[in-house]
Amino acid sequence: MINKKLILSKRPIGVPKKDTWNLIEEELPNLKEGEMLIENHYVSLDPAMRGWINETRSYIKPVAIGEVMRAGTIGKVIDVKGKTSFKKGDFLSGWGGVQKYLISKGEGHYPINPKNDNLPIYIGSLGMPGMTAYFGILEEGKIKEGDVVLISGAAGAVGSLAGQIAKIKGCKVIGIVGGEKKANYIIDELGFDGAIDYKKDNVIKDIKRECPKGIDVYFDNVGGKILDSALIYLRMNARIVICGAISQYNNVKAEGPNNYLSLLVNRATMKGMIVFDYAHKYSEAMKEISNWIDQGKIKSKEDIYYGIENFYETFLRLFNGDKLGKLVLQIKK
Ligand SMILES: NC(=O)c1ccc[n+]([C@@H]2O[C@H](COP(=O)([O-])OP(=O)(O)OC[C@H]3O[C@@H](n4cnc5c(N)ncnc54)[C@H](OP(=O)(O)O)[C@@H]3O)[C@@H](O)[C@H]2O)c1
Repeated sequence: MINKKLILSKRPIGVPKKDTWNLIEEELPNLKEGEMLIENHYVSLDPAMRGWINETRSYIKPVAIGEVMRAGTIGKVIDVKGKTSFKKGDFLSGWGGVQKYLISKGEGHYPINPKNDNLPIYIGSLGMPGMTAYFGILEEGKIKEGDVVLISGAAGAVGSLAGQIAKIKGCKVIGIVGGEKKANYIIDELGFDGAIDYKKDNVIKDIKRECPKGIDVYFDNVGGKILDSALIYLRMNARIVICGAISQYNNVKAEGPNNYLSLLVNRATMKGMIVFDYAHKYSEAMKEISNWIDQGKIKSKEDIYYGIENFYETFLRLFNGDKLGKLVLQIKK
């Protein structure tokens, strides 16, 4: 059998170019005792992938040149040899990488519900972004009823879920998004109380308009100028959750906040989070998010594009914003 895999070919400076990766074909070896052949169906496209291809280590080691591009996946076990961790036909979520097949003993993979016809949800609201939103807003943001919660990247995988959870908990929730379509989406479809279009409006003035009494929790997915604007309007004891900073990922030097003295004045805290620190509690979050989805309290949106050959153009959608909800690349129909 022939595998198609996306190899990191060079380290980008700025926005990755198409030749950052190389799609190659390779014959798969025969399975050895205890190994499984997994066919990847869906690849998760995450902003973090941009950080993983930098030279420097962040919270996880960089993808090496010549290595398969790291990515979360949903795959199906299509062959096994001997005694294996999972059986033929099982659907697994794991770190399968951007490739059509992989041979594995099951490390980094866990089984998902095969009855669910919406498999991509396991790399979205019931996967890493869902876990990030859940623990980020509840445990790091420590939201309570009546809080004013501001969320950037609000129409994305993490932000859209964090906002909906904050609504369930009785907060007033304002989202920051790029474009009118997304602004309408988070209010009309997701039930946010207000939206700020950072591409059109003056973010500083709009935060004042939408949060006249200030912000209790700012859940930040984008960093840069938007973070700096939010800092101006903190309330006493506000919590800022640094979940991500996508506006900075393609910059050689990250732009830091100027208005940090607002933390001092307002006795506020600003704290970074990494979802993996909550791995021991994922099952708790999955159960609760599933219940909320079943009860119609949370809407989960996956934006799916097809073809491993289209990885690059699809990946760029994370940065140009041309997508809604969780970005997924389907590689098997
Ligand atoms: N800490 C953790 O453990 C953890 C785990 C998962 C994700 N994250 C972080 O959480 C954030 C959101 O991730 P996600 O998977 O949910 O991605 P996403 O929000 O689904 O996709 C990225 C979105 O970012 C917005 N964006 C892109 N460039 C921007 C810019 N220059 N300024 C403002 N917004 C910009 C775009 O939306 P618009 O059209 O609205 O601009 C785009 O759709 C990322 O920063 C990611 O790195 C952190």
